[in-house]
Amino acid sequence: MDCRICGGTVTEFLDLGRQPSANRFVPPGRAAEEPLFPLAVGACGGCTMVQLTTEVPRELKYHDEYPYRASGSALHREHFARAARDLLRTELTGPDPFVVEVGCNDGVMLGTIADAGVRHLGVDPAAEVAALAAARGVRVLTDWFEARTAAAVRAVHGPADVVFGANTICHLPYLGSVLAGVDTLLTADGVFVFEEPYLGTIVERTAFDQIYDEHVFYFTVRSVRELARRFGFELVDVAPTPLHGGELRYTLARPGRRRPSPAVEQWLDRERATGLAHPRTVERFAEAVRRVRTDLVATLERLAAEGRRVVGYGAPGKSTTVTNYCGIGPALLPFICDSTPAKQGRVVPGARIPIAPPEAFRAPYPDFALLFAWNHAEEIMAKERDFAERGGRWIVYVPRVQVL
Ligand code: TMP
Ligand code: ZN
Repeated sequence: MDCRICGGTVTEFLDLGRQPSANRFVPPGRAAEEPLFPLAVGACGGCTMVQLTTEVPRELKYHDEYPYRASGSALHREHFARAARDLLRTELTGPDPFVVEVGCNDGVMLGTIADAGVRHLGVDPAAEVAALAAARGVRVLTDWFEARTAAAVRAVHGPADVVFGANTICHLPYLGSVLAGVDTLLTADGVFVFEEPYLGTIVERTAFDQIYDEHVFYFTVRSVRELARRFGFELVDVAPTPLHGGELRYTLARPGRRRPSPAVEQWLDRERATGLAHPRTVERFAEAVRRVRTDLVATLERLAAEGRRVVGYGAPGKSTTVTNYCGIGPALLPFICDSTPAKQGRVVPGARIPIAPPEAFRAPYPDFALLFAWNHAEEIMAKERDFAERGGRWIVYVPRVQVL
């Protein structure tokens, strides 16, 4: 296929089979109707961008009942409150500043901006999450962020000092339109700040569960720098953030308006040294992914043969990739507990594993718990200390399958 960014040739390196849209948690009766799509990733020989080879239509992904809640963990709430405070302190300091967020979800970041009385607008196509944001005082436009919407926002609200996105920019296949929109919106000295899953972390930790239909792109510092250049921006800063097992936050500005941080070159050097996005590196990653599948299925089958009870903990989109790729269904994992009400009573798409509220975890405790929400391990293990104290064991599969 042709690269969505530069038109170069994308070479596939990992095929995760036919999969449903990861966050379409459906009532059990409707599960059979859900469409499946090929899930595979490749790297562009031109601009190095790693990307999905097939696209799921956006209306299937970000529908009105889109169940993901960015406020679902203390980790996210604290991180985004801090991100908002940082923006207020560093970028939103002029007279009557204005910030636009691409995909504001339930207002986890903009809530703090709204509390500070600063002008803002969230743009999010999913009606239920947008309503949650509005209920906490966040101004939301229920739509997709692209060149068209950016022009409309500018016409009504004027230019923005910051355009922000978190775990949303890599979701948008039409990044050219997004960056054209950012160009329309930003003031001369404005910045586009976004934080997204990092290919370096995914490869280093074999975190293949980050690969699902919503994540169209898997950024590296190099591919983001190319992307920025191609659409008239400059990458001026890169910083690690702790979400989803380790992400990077990128800052883009208009060329020559900001002095680039030394971090940009440092990250590029590191990527050169590790050969990230090099065909050999991604082939090795694909092998490691297949090994995790073999080990995880073998572990669950062994425990089942021994008559042990195993349940899942946390049903993020990541759990859809893992269960469908590994062929794990209700026979190996009778249910997964998750704290998100919008997921409870539904089933994991494709794998059709029922999702239960967290209380089901304690009634009674299973022998083993497969931790899908491994990026929240600290928070969850602290909350469920009693499970481990009574002899319960956690199973993790990142960076490799381990029974803790
Ligand atoms: P995320 O990693 O994409 O934020 O998703 C985490 C999922 O795990 C989300 O569906 C909520 C769920 N979860 C729990 O069920 N219990 C918890 O204590 C935490 C932190 C998350
Ligand atoms: Zn390319």
